[in-house]
Amino acid sequence: MELSNVIALVTGGASGLGRATALRLARKGAKVVVVDLPVSHGANVAEEIGDNALFCGCDVTSESDVSAALDAAEARWGTVNVAVNCAGIAVAKRTLSKGGAHDLATFSKVLHVNVAGSFNVIRLVAQRLASTEAGVDGERGVFISTASVAAFDGQIGQAAYAASKAAIAGMTLPLARDLMHLGMRVCTIAPGLFKTPMLASLPDQVQNELAKQVPFPQRLGDPDEYAQLVEHIVSNRMLNGETIRLDGALRMPPK
Ligand SMILES: NC(=O)c1ccc[n+]([C@@H]2O[C@H](COP(=O)([O-])OP(=O)(O)OC[C@H]3O[C@@H](n4cnc5c(N)ncnc54)[C@H](O)[C@@H]3O)[C@@H](O)[C@H]2O)c1
Repeated sequence: MELSNVIALVTGGASGLGRATALRLARKGAKVVVVDLPVSHGANVAEEIGDNALFCGCDVTSESDVSAALDAAEARWGTVNVAVNCAGIAVAKRTLSKGGAHDLATFSKVLHVNVAGSFNVIRLVAQRLASTEAGVDGERGVFISTASVAAFDGQIGQAAYAASKAAIAGMTLPLARDLMHLGMRVCTIAPGLFKTPMLASLPDQVQNELAKQVPFPQRLGDPDEYAQLVEHIVSNRMLNGETIRLDGALRMPPK
């Protein structure tokens, strides 16, 4: 898909990997709907991009919020044909700790935001895209979600987070199969350690220790390197139904 024909919705677009994706796609000629919580800095990101972006304060788990964002995109540019799911939350909590058993409310919330939130965006975008005219090879659109290497090598305290990321990887192929007759592709990126606000706020020494765990290159990933892969997936039609690790060969140890 040509970037100049792309109307992309990027969730979690206010920060980190989503922000870098919104900036890169817009630089390459796409129109970008920056979706993030109303309290986020999403409006600043849209302002930084300029005329090719709009911000929609939105909870990705809400049908009405996501529908409102799609309505806003349609009113301004047309039907969203690329959705990148970067919105997500993480918790670190052991199954059993001095405080007792891991509470189910936290476990469910992580699954709800990360898994149901990503699925909600894909199903609502797909519904609108289905009635648009197909392009080259019958292609209509592309969906990219964000798992994590924790989907495969989750660490101590990551039961909820790893379960949510494994679910995102697990639904990638069935989503691609569900949507294949409509010319929509579905891929997932499983990042290793990226220097987003969460990691960048750690002391330099801790960041260096984390970086040393990466075989090569021995550093944290730059969010724009994630965005580069998004750009590639959007433009390469043979990529479909796959979860791609982006991690410098990192395999996470137990802790
Ligand atoms: N940074 C890393 O090293 C790394 C590694 C592996 C996976 N990931 C995954 O990549 C994604 C982005 O991570 P990041 O580091 O950029 O995080 P981040 O915290 O910088 O950005 C996440 C954004 O999601 C938004 N968000 C959270 N809940 C939301 C909701 N219900 N509705 C709408 N927006 C919501 C937050 O407001 C925030 O702006 C996450 O899914 C994360 O699990 C990150």
